[in-house]
Amino acid sequence: MKSQEKYLQDLKQWLHDTSDSPLEEMADFFSKRLDSYEEHMSVWEKSYQLFAELLPFKCREILDLGCGTGLELDHIWQKNPAIHVTGVDLCQSMLDKLLEKHSDKHLVTVCQDYFQYHPGYEKWDAVISFESLHHFLPERKKELYRKIYHGLKTGGVFILGDYIACCDEEEELLRNVYLEKRKQYLIPDNQFVHFDIPLTLEHESSLLQDAGFTIAKVLDNPDGVTIMISEKGD
Ligand SMILES: C[S@@+](CC[C@H](N)C(=O)[O-])C[C@H]1O[C@@H](n2cnc3c(N)ncnc32)[C@H](O)[C@@H]1O
Repeated sequence: MKSQEKYLQDLKQWLHDTSDSPLEEMADFFSKRLDSYEEHMSVWEKSYQLFAELLPFKCREILDLGCGTGLELDHIWQKNPAIHVTGVDLCQSMLDKLLEKHSDKHLVTVCQDYFQYHPGYEKWDAVISFESLHHFLPERKKELYRKIYHGLKTGGVFILGDYIACCDEEEELLRNVYLEKRKQYLIPDNQFVHFDIPLTLEHESSLLQDAGFTIAKVLDNPDGVTIMISEKGD
């Protein structure tokens, strides 16, 4: 396993080597890579498996934010084919692939920005999100986590599987490069771009706790995905 020092050194080198690469608009980024997407993501197979195992069996109504082609849903439905899912994603071609794979399931897709989507009140047994929210600043996530909390039934869970920054230095470094690049390429505030800006576990946890959640479990997978289970208590 790489030491933190070596990891940060490699990250800085990569940021330097890619400093001239323009930022790509989020939905375009995934649309262009649709054909190779599932193969590219297969390295996280174990995390998808674990993610599905962690979903409480009694869950019936699930909201998946940034569902893409539904790699996490493949495993969830394998375990419990009766689950009802609403999947929200910006990218219609990713949703089309999900619909094609799972035409026999209880599935509603919504092609929308999840920050604009209203999850309603006390509606969901679980809200899930896998490898999507690390593209956003904490300022934006804060409001979303509140909406997720209110959208969950009492006793419901928010299961987040995502990249986590190894330390404050990584979080700050990526945030600064992201903001600089947005300025350099004159990206308007309302446009989403594909660039990873994960938060530290402490920072992510405090956003979830501020929204009202109790963090019940955190699992660090060796493949780089951290799974956090947050509960809406009584
Ligand atoms: C790396 S993919 C993960 C997809 C799926 N959860 C999986 O693990 O296979 C990230 C997904 O998040 C979606 N996404 C990013 N920002 C979004 C936003 N603001 N609203 C809705 N979807 C978004 C992208 O379009 C993409 O499909």
